[in-house]
Amino acid sequence: MSVSPVFQPLLLPNGRSLPNRLVKAAMEEGLAAPGQLPGPEFERLYRTWAEGGVGLMLTGNVMVDARALTGPGGVVLEASSPLEGFRAWAGAAQTHGGQVWMQINHPGRQVLAAMGEVALAPSAVALDLGKHSAMFGSPRAMTEAEIAEVIARFAATARRAAEAGFDGVQVHAAHGYLISQFLSPLTNRRNDAWGGSLPNRARLLVEVVRAVKAAVPAGFGVGAKLNSADFQRGGFSEADAREVVLLLNAEGLDLLELSGGSYESPAMQGRTADGRTLAREAYFLEFAQQLAAVATMPLMTTGGITRLPVAEQVLASGVALVGLGTALAMVPELPRRWQAGEPAVAPRPDVAWKDKALASLATMALVRRQLQRMAVGRAPQGSGSPLWALITDQWRTRRLTRRYRAWRAAAR
Ligand SMILES: Cc1cc2nc3c(=O)[nH]c(=O)nc-3n(C[C@H](O)[C@H](O)[C@H](O)COP(=O)(O)O)c2cc1C
Repeated sequence: MSVSPVFQPLLLPNGRSLPNRLVKAAMEEGLAAPGQLPGPEFERLYRTWAEGGVGLMLTGNVMVDARALTGPGGVVLEASSPLEGFRAWAGAAQTHGGQVWMQINHPGRQVLAAMGEVALAPSAVALDLGKHSAMFGSPRAMTEAEIAEVIARFAATARRAAEAGFDGVQVHAAHGYLISQFLSPLTNRRNDAWGGSLPNRARLLVEVVRAVKAAVPAGFGVGAKLNSADFQRGGFSEADAREVVLLLNAEGLDLLELSGGSYESPAMQGRTADGRTLAREAYFLEFAQQLAAVATMPLMTTGGITRLPVAEQVLASGVALVGLGTALAMVPELPRRWQAGEPAVAPRPDVAWKDKALASLATMALVRRQLQRMAVGRAPQGSGSPLWALITDQWRTRRLTRRYRAWRAAAR
């Protein structure tokens, strides 16, 4: 039997090899221990994925600033955070020959109002989620000094990730978070050096990548996750994304992941606000394939992939790596099963509710539930009630939000 190209190693520009082409995409674990630090749950969860045979694990997004979290169970890594839990996390992920990179992020305006912090953004443009908009507060436009601080924070978090033993970092520049807000003309209305033209809108991303590269040792992986588009009228377009890739070609990235969408237009879940139809599987493949012709760094695409033939089609399109999120939450041993010749397909939760925002939250809650199960040594559950998952997720979020607010109050 010939070996599937999916199980061929990949030599990255930093000189290090990945054992195969399958990557666990970033999924926020929401499992932080008090102090927003990783505890033993992270070790169990990542050891499970490592045993499953995936070549590279991208962690769920880790926050560069304790004042700005994507959710109250999120992990924070700042210049003075204790590293023990991070060391144990990286070590557990590396037990079977795969690499682990930390995804690093600042959410900008995508911070829940209940967190009780001031949300910063390129411009004072609030999220529009229709009747659910009040979940998020109105952001304040950042000053130049705050932009410089954010860049320094990304660099500090990356340096500490290297100290803790991670193999690399991925800068989150997708999904409507801060860097993605700077990239999009809908959220970036600035008329200084950080807004307007595409090079100005991309300046924060480029400066963060440069600062991160300057802060980490040689051979440490540096990547980014970029939207192929916002999928919103007047937003960050595919032509913009192509230009950003051309800018990034000069920055020596080891990996560029292509995704799409934001909270307002969740294309990463296969749904868009502007009504565009995405492919049923491998949502962003067509775009990734076009970019493969101009990108000098290895590309990866994530979104909707659950079957080996689709993973093979991604590689045949000139894309170097295949990102799997939901599939590895449902079936963590999928890579090993594919390698053993099993035609395994990971199930996808399908929540067909009328309220798209609630359906999206319930889908996320169902997937997150599987991470919580694996984190305590249980197997994922193939199915479950989306309503129950959403209700228990909301309870949990409320409890963790109280804990976060008490922690922040004590820090102040
Ligand atoms: C529970 C959950 C948490 C996620 N957290 C993150 C995250 O922290 N960072 C990120 O870039 N993407 C995150 N994503 C998006 C995934 O990385 C991926 O882009 C998306 O789920 C589409 O891929 P899939 O169809 O293979 O799941 C998350 C997705 C889910 C379901």
